[in-house]
Amino acid sequence: MKQQNFFQNIDLIKSKESDPQIVDLFNLSEIKDILDFYEKLPLATFNEKQKIKKKHWILGINKKIDNFIISKVNSVLEDWKVDNMYSNDDAFGIFHESFNPIKLHVDTGKDKNKIIYKQILIPLTETGDTILFEPRWYGPSSSFTIQKDELQNNNGYNLRTSDHIGDLDFDKTFYQKYLNHEDYNNLKGLKVKKIYKWQLGEALIFDRTFIHCASDLKKPKIGLTIFFYRDSN
Ligand SMILES: [Fe+2]
Repeated sequence: MKQQNFFQNIDLIKSKESDPQIVDLFNLSEIKDILDFYEKLPLATFNEKQKIKKKHWILGINKKIDNFIISKVNSVLEDWKVDNMYSNDDAFGIFHESFNPIKLHVDTGKDKNKIIYKQILIPLTETGDTILFEPRWYGPSSSFTIQKDELQNNNGYNLRTSDHIGDLDFDKTFYQKYLNHEDYNNLKGLKVKKIYKWQLGEALIFDRTFIHCASDLKKPKIGLTIFFYRDSN
């Protein structure tokens, strides 16, 4: 594991880290309101190869639902600021609709001066798993791969790197059960911190320094992820 020293305020980032947390945050009619809002938003990206659609929660389109989601975040997090990494609009997180499982990556951003904080994943479908790994990653936003052709592809927001690779072999039983879409050797050195099975109404709050991916479940999934940072205090 390399790339451990990208951030200027690494001690502040580490001081706010915690174990991942599952909270009950919504009732089913609130989930439906979020999905209705999602349907009306403009498409931001559609990646045909990965079969993933993305939309930004653009603020100002529906002030009532904006205030609703902000109050929900206030109920579970303190001193947060939204880290809008992917949109030129004023956006409050990103909706991702996928059929193929999302592969191993981290959402640490690319601003070394930021005090990155938590991200909240809100499942909007009943099917899906999110798997978090240790050790944590203190480099920039990355997609992790050991494939040479992928490592040479520098399009896209994320860095492509194999610097996450460590010494210990990954748990084979877990691999066979959940992670067949990944190359086994791409997990070398990682350990599972948590497998989160999506439940409507819940949210998963986790530090942005956790490497994560989806399980190999090939079913349509919709989720909303909001990324946070802190002011320097
Ligand atoms: Fe992610």
